Amino acid sequence: MKVLVTGGSGYIGSHTIVDLIDHNILPVSVDNFSRSSSETLEGIQKICKQSINNYDIDISQADELRKIFELEGDITGIIHFAAFKFVGESVKEPLLYYRNNLNGLINLLDCVKKYNIQQFVFSSSCTVYGNPDQLPVNEQSPILPSQSPYGATKQMSEQIIRDFAQNSSCKFSLLRYFNPIGAHPSAMIGEGSKFPPENLMPILTETALGLRKSLTVFGGDYPTRDGTCVRDYIHVMDIAHAHTKALSLHFQNQNVQTFNLGSGQGVTVLELISAFEKATGIKLNYEIGERRPGDVVAVYADNRKAREILGWELKYSLEEMMSTAWQWQLKKNA
Ligand code: UD1
Repeated sequence: MKVLVTGGSGYIGSHTIVDLIDHNILPVSVDNFSRSSSETLEGIQKICKQSINNYDIDISQADELRKIFELEGDITGIIHFAAFKFVGESVKEPLLYYRNNLNGLINLLDCVKKYNIQQFVFSSSCTVYGNPDQLPVNEQSPILPSQSPYGATKQMSEQIIRDFAQNSSCKFSLLRYFNPIGAHPSAMIGEGSKFPPENLMPILTETALGLRKSLTVFGGDYPTRDGTCVRDYIHVMDIAHAHTKALSLHFQNQNVQTFNLGSGQGVTVLELISAFEKATGIKLNYEIGERRPGDVVAVYADNRKAREILGWELKYSLEEMMSTAWQWQLKKNA
């Protein structure tokens, strides 16, 4: 099976390419490196010992995108990661986010129709659940108003896919990621971007390495067991493998399925810090600061549907999430 992976040089895209190759699926990447680095593809090549075919194309350019399908001829699946993901930036530049994240998707759906694509896997986010009233959240939990244009693009993308799917024979899997962290155990690829990180894990490892003086924990007065926010952290290779599984899913009766991809465990910021300290033996410099506007108090997944229907199993522990993230940070700065 040949699959187009958009954003193949991004964080989850690159780990997914490795998992696809491990499972004898041939990936074709499209990435214009607007937010990622071509070095990531070199990392994948080292891990998989084979070259990766990448098209340096912006998927917002419909003509350019169509050329890939024409040239390749036999693409039957699409995994769509390519999108902007910085919440803060999306608040400042909403049109950039709506234009980029929605145009790319619409162009790809045109190709689904034109080139008879059978399977489409979409990168969604637990952000669609907003600040949930009940935990854990399952796939039927209400979609609450989005806190940011970034989140809104994920909600809108899901809706666009549902509408499109009504008149399509393609099978769509909407994968709602919780908090992906960690890196490939080889430390050849991991989380990285041309922009300074906003997410906790890379900020934490940069602090541990001394690239930052200290980590600010955003809020210590939340109604949680230690006053800090609760999230569901999950290893990026476990997330990656769910995409491979989704490609071979046999749908019954409906052609859109939604899956939560989380570990099912709620972990506070302070618990994550101490898991890191325990896994690496490093004492982290941190202080409790102000709450970050827009943060939800607590969210974690009911992941039963993914386990039952996708046959998905989690392989990596919290300790391995910490150690692989750390090994990657060390490698990056070696
Ligand atoms: C964020 C986005 C989410 C998006 C995801 C992927 C927000 C509100 N949510 O998730 O929509 O899908 O990224 O990019 O931005 N924290 C600190 N100090 C830091 C950084 C983070 O204490 O320097 C805390 C946060 O308050 C949060 C936790 O760490 O409680 C995780 O934060 P982060 O990694 O940014 O992920 P989310 O906010 O869950």
